[in-house]
Amino acid sequence: MAAEQGQILVIATAAVGGFTLLVILTLFFLITGRCQWYIKAKMKSEEKRRNHLQNGHLRFPGVKTYIDPDTYEDPSLAVHEFAKEIDPSRIRIERVIGAGEFGEVCSGRLKTPGKREIPVAIKTLKGGHMDRQRRDFLREASIMGQFDHPNIIRLEGVVTKSRPVMIVVEYMENGSLDSFLRKHDGHFTVIQLVGMLRGIASGMKYLSDMGYVHRDLAARNILVNSNLVCKVSDFGLSRVLEDDPEAAYTTTGGKIPIRWTAPEAIAYRKFSSASDAWSYGIVMWEVMSYGERPYWEMSNQDVILSIEEGYRLPAPMGCPASLHQLMLHCWQKERNHRPKFTDIVSFLDKLIRNPSALHTLVEDILV
Ligand code: ADE
Repeated sequence: MAAEQGQILVIATAAVGGFTLLVILTLFFLITGRCQWYIKAKMKSEEKRRNHLQNGHLRFPGVKTYIDPDTYEDPSLAVHEFAKEIDPSRIRIERVIGAGEFGEVCSGRLKTPGKREIPVAIKTLKGGHMDRQRRDFLREASIMGQFDHPNIIRLEGVVTKSRPVMIVVEYMENGSLDSFLRKHDGHFTVIQLVGMLRGIASGMKYLSDMGYVHRDLAARNILVNSNLVCKVSDFGLSRVLEDDPEAAYTTTGGKIPIRWTAPEAIAYRKFSSASDAWSYGIVMWEVMSYGERPYWEMSNQDVILSIEEGYRLPAPMGCPASLHQLMLHCWQKERNHRPKFTDIVSFLDKLIRNPSALHTLVEDILV
């Protein structure tokens, strides 16, 4: 009898013990599982937050965002993230076509992996440079390499593993837009000029969608190919302004191309896609006047004071009223009232589809 009771006691103890263990294990898995679920959910929401905000810009799902190469601890890692290394044996330099701050700009040919040869422009970094110069030089490639758009200059690749260090980009037969227009004064139809402006606006829409602010949009920084396609070039943030002969030092020590820059960017360095839209209005004026200098020979100080007093550039000769209206829209003092690049592209598309709207000239309204 005692043996039987002992057996029952053992079975009961084992059953209670087993049940308790089961409860403990179930609770453990439930809690850790919930923890993991909570951690996963938190990571997802953090990732979402990061995806919506990069370089301080709101980004949209499905739209690529520009990454500032200066956020890389080692900028040489950035350039290889965004640019292909080219074997110099694939490059044939033909002639010098210009001089940049860092060295010569040449034209030449690049053998593609498919053995085709394409015309290219080659920017070289002159010997005896410091690490800092090499970094500033390659920053442009790290930026350009992130873009893929028909109205943005295309980067073919870089040479960094041998000397001279080079940046290789697509060749633009007609060079920069300002000198091209001066050379062909009065030669184009209004529709051709609007086509060029549409291309520039489309490139700028792409850049602003990516959260990239150009800061030096001007006809001298647009390149033109043999089909009259205009492409935005000259990337590199602060370096661009150091390189630009139009950029002047402000009282606060910044270097800014005054005639092309929005008042808030001059006054307190508030650069944004809205300040790029102001510069776009100036580019419109440069294009419609075939490369005239904005505000002619007025001094930078007089330009700043006149803009502050409400003065705006008049319509160039032969400029359709609708285009001058768009320029004035880009030059609104309140930056949030300026058109977005997407609005500018749609407006120009409508003008191209319905050119009768281009027949009213500003001089026709004034007489
Ligand atoms: N000058 C500077 N860059 C150029 C390019 N990509 N094509 C032609 N001329 C240039």
